[in-house]
Amino acid sequence: MHPEETQKLAENKNKVLISRDEIRTKIQELGKRISDEYRGKCPILIGVLNGGFIFCADLFRELNIDCEVDFIKISSYEDAVKTSGNVKLLKEINAHLEGRDVIVVEDIVDSGYSVQYLKNKISKMNPKSLKFVSLMVKEDAAQVPYEVHYIGFKIPNRFVVGYGLDLAQKFRNLPDIYVMD
Ligand code: IMP
Ligand code: MG
Repeated sequence: MHPEETQKLAENKNKVLISRDEIRTKIQELGKRISDEYRGKCPILIGVLNGGFIFCADLFRELNIDCEVDFIKISSYEDAVKTSGNVKLLKEINAHLEGRDVIVVEDIVDSGYSVQYLKNKISKMNPKSLKFVSLMVKEDAAQVPYEVHYIGFKIPNRFVVGYGLDLAQKFRNLPDIYVMD
């Protein structure tokens, strides 16, 4: 995709699925809910790179309780629009999670393979509690059973970019979320 096409996509308001204003309002709601439910505790957010980095940063700043953050990097898409189903660990979590209240922060859940992988992996670290928050969940896309406790938006089973989400590493910088055709 050429830079001009990126520009065209950014200007095509018809393809905006979720606007920056809707995103901000939703994250304020999620931040309030999570703060209320974890008050008196000190949860650690685990942002899932790369896609989740913007959502994680925005959600983190909506928490009005003691909290920490760390990151994990995984990959399964290999520049494609469909998961390979094979989740690879690209960067390990550095924080010690034993006995901690852990909240994994995902950008989007599609097949569920990533959430399943992260649940298995982090459970073995013996956290006190483990929950998942995802800005988006694709409806009718699950290929494995999974549980996400806090969901921002349920969206149709389409490929989306922007607000951290990419197609072959591009478009993460768009402030709104767009459907790719
Ligand atoms: P899953 O393992 O199939 O559930 O996919 C999860 C990961 O794939 C997400 O954390 C995203 O990083 C990426 N992903 C899934 N769907 C999309 C999409 O529509 N646009 C961009 N990235 C996506
Ligand atoms: Mg992701």
